[in-house]
Amino acid sequence: MTAHKKLFIKTYGCQMNVYDSERMEEAMLKAGYEPTSTPDDADMILLNTCHIREKAAEKVYSELGRFKGLKEEKPDLKIGVAGCVAQAEGAEIVRRQPLVDLVVGPQSYHRLAELVAKADTGAKALDTDFPAEDKFEHLSRRPKARRGPTAFLTVQEGCDKFCAFCVVPYTRGAEVSRPAARVLEEARDLVDRGVREVTLLGQNVNAYHGAGTDGDWTLARLVRELARVDGLERIRYTTSHPNDMGDDLIAAHAEVEELMPYLHLPVQSGSDRILKRMNRQHTAESYLRLIEKIRAARPDILMSGDFIVGFPEETEEDFQATLDLVEAVGYGYAYSFKYSTRPGTPAAERPQVGADEADDRLQRLQALITRQQREIQDAMVGRQVKVLFEKAGRKPGQMVGKSEYLHAVHVDAPDLQPGELRDVEIVEAGANSLAGRLV
Ligand code: 5AD
Ligand code: SF4
Repeated sequence: MTAHKKLFIKTYGCQMNVYDSERMEEAMLKAGYEPTSTPDDADMILLNTCHIREKAAEKVYSELGRFKGLKEEKPDLKIGVAGCVAQAEGAEIVRRQPLVDLVVGPQSYHRLAELVAKADTGAKALDTDFPAEDKFEHLSRRPKARRGPTAFLTVQEGCDKFCAFCVVPYTRGAEVSRPAARVLEEARDLVDRGVREVTLLGQNVNAYHGAGTDGDWTLARLVRELARVDGLERIRYTTSHPNDMGDDLIAAHAEVEELMPYLHLPVQSGSDRILKRMNRQHTAESYLRLIEKIRAARPDILMSGDFIVGFPEETEEDFQATLDLVEAVGYGYAYSFKYSTRPGTPAAERPQVGADEADDRLQRLQALITRQQREIQDAMVGRQVKVLFEKAGRKPGQMVGKSEYLHAVHVDAPDLQPGELRDVEIVEAGANSLAGRLV
């Protein structure tokens, strides 16, 4: 019997990369590799990279440099770069770092085993095409292996929006939706393996328009069908664009019990002048109206968002409009970033905001967001939530899981098993999690 070779994957960036890494790991099982949790005993190291903001690519190059010693000790070690840096940089990666044997873009993961075989011959193996075939059709999940209670499930990939700051339309390509039957099949398989909650993933997930039994389905239709899968208790989806938040999806939030009351709906800025320059195709006002509508359907929904500060030509007044919008919405979670120039995107050509000014705005925005998050968490004390328990907590006897609102909740209950969905009363709010008691 031949010993299995070992594969180490390090994942950067978004949840879709987490999903992709799982699929690559499964694809590599067939090629005779088994996963390992450390690069030290690996025969193949794969970095699944992110290109969304600054330093992501630089971090990858410095990480690659650190494998030099390992490769000297073990000349057969193969090193690969996957993900959006692979897509954006392509062959430049092997020019800049000759240690790299393999470069594979996000649309070519179904060809990974072939690429590894090529790398094994000593050749450099590169594939950053946007192939015509559907990678998902060729990436089957490993049957029957048990899973934890939660899983990601990619339903849509790519983006046609071309926000002026963003590389995603270039690295992930045009919007593509998976057929509904494939998604349902994958969800059923996940449930058979122990999953009780799925998060549907897509760069523009609410623009989903996959082929269904009677024409294209919307995300709302897909959610309704998924809700009928026996044993699937919870459905989430991310990330959404305000302009694709259809009335049927809003109605699903009112009507589908399995659809969790949490919505990540990035707005990026509260200034119409900046939103226009960002090519967002919506205004601050239209976003606020939309949230009103969503809250009318599901009053307890917890809102989450993304913000960019220091976008080219952003003035103090523009920034103030962002603070005002944050005040108006009341976010349970929000992520804010300093604008980072992405070569090749339209905003890269515009007059940039000074670094100190951008830093200062980021700090002020983050202070406001932190305060809001804390207020919303504190307001959970005394309320009853449902928690899907996932794993043991840090302290002995503790179990942790997530509420419907995605708050981390821990309870003292040594007999609880991962996958149990229980009523919990919140007794205390900490900085990063809530403490609760089983009801
Ligand atoms: N600079 C800073 N933040 C960015 N994002 C996307 N591109 C950039 C950029 N060039 C942020 C947006 C997006 C999130 C995933 O990353 O807020 O919603
Ligand atoms: Fe990027 Fe999202 Fe805009 Fe698409 S909608 S270009 S992924 S920020």
